[in-house]
Amino acid sequence: MKGVIPAAGKGTRMEPFTNAYPKELLPVGEKAVIHHAIEDMKEAGITDICIVVGWKQHAIIDYLGSGEQYGVQLTYVVQDERDGLAGAVKSAEHYIKDEPFAVVLGDNYVDDKEAMKDLVDFHIDNQMDATIGTFRPEDVSSYGVIDPGDENLVEGMVEKPDPEDAPSDIAISGMYVFNPEIFDAIEKIGKGKGGEYQLTDAIDEMRKEGKRVGYSDITGTRIDVGTPERLRKANRQMDLRE
Ligand code: G1P
Repeated sequence: MKGVIPAAGKGTRMEPFTNAYPKELLPVGEKAVIHHAIEDMKEAGITDICIVVGWKQHAIIDYLGSGEQYGVQLTYVVQDERDGLAGAVKSAEHYIKDEPFAVVLGDNYVDDKEAMKDLVDFHIDNQMDATIGTFRPEDVSSYGVIDPGDENLVEGMVEKPDPEDAPSDIAISGMYVFNPEIFDAIEKIGKGKGGEYQLTDAIDEMRKEGKRVGYSDITGTRIDVGTPERLRKANRQMDLRE
């Protein structure tokens, strides 16, 4: 299985740091957060990884290089038009072609290195077409939120709902496994929340077409470094683990 790590966005909530470099290079412990994402993939046996770059792309390429020193093989693709996470995943289509693939968002820190592997196993064992790694935050309104059904299947999902409209307390973590049909679904969606093409909407499109879309809580604690507060939290979590 191959992997895709979207890392193209500007990260406006982390300015002014992100005026100088992408949020994926913010440090969690002694490594950039995207370096942890690569280790998550590697632990799952995924060593062919495509990094989708855009904003301050050279800084990411300078840090990670070919991937050889981390025991992985990296390919970079540029998301020309930075119009949302769905577009970032779509940029990797020619690299993936027609096999299942794993996605970890490049600003995600997960303190359990088995999390990605468990998600891949879940996807294969349950013959899913798309699997969403989920978690239970205190406030779901800054995440995608799923409507859970029987047998870990998903009955709907909404990107960053107002608290009163959230279908559950189960949020989308930023780890996913997809069959290549996700690329067709991305083509069918329009702009969603925030005027961007949302990956959440593309996954929901797959579900509406009758594909098996499942969810599984990821093991360990996950934090994205999208805000200064969460960056501090990720570093505190890292300290606890050591
Ligand atoms: C993205 C996804 C969202 C998910 C989140 C996890 O949002 O669109 O569904 O819950 O990552 O970090 P972003 O944080 O990029 O706005």
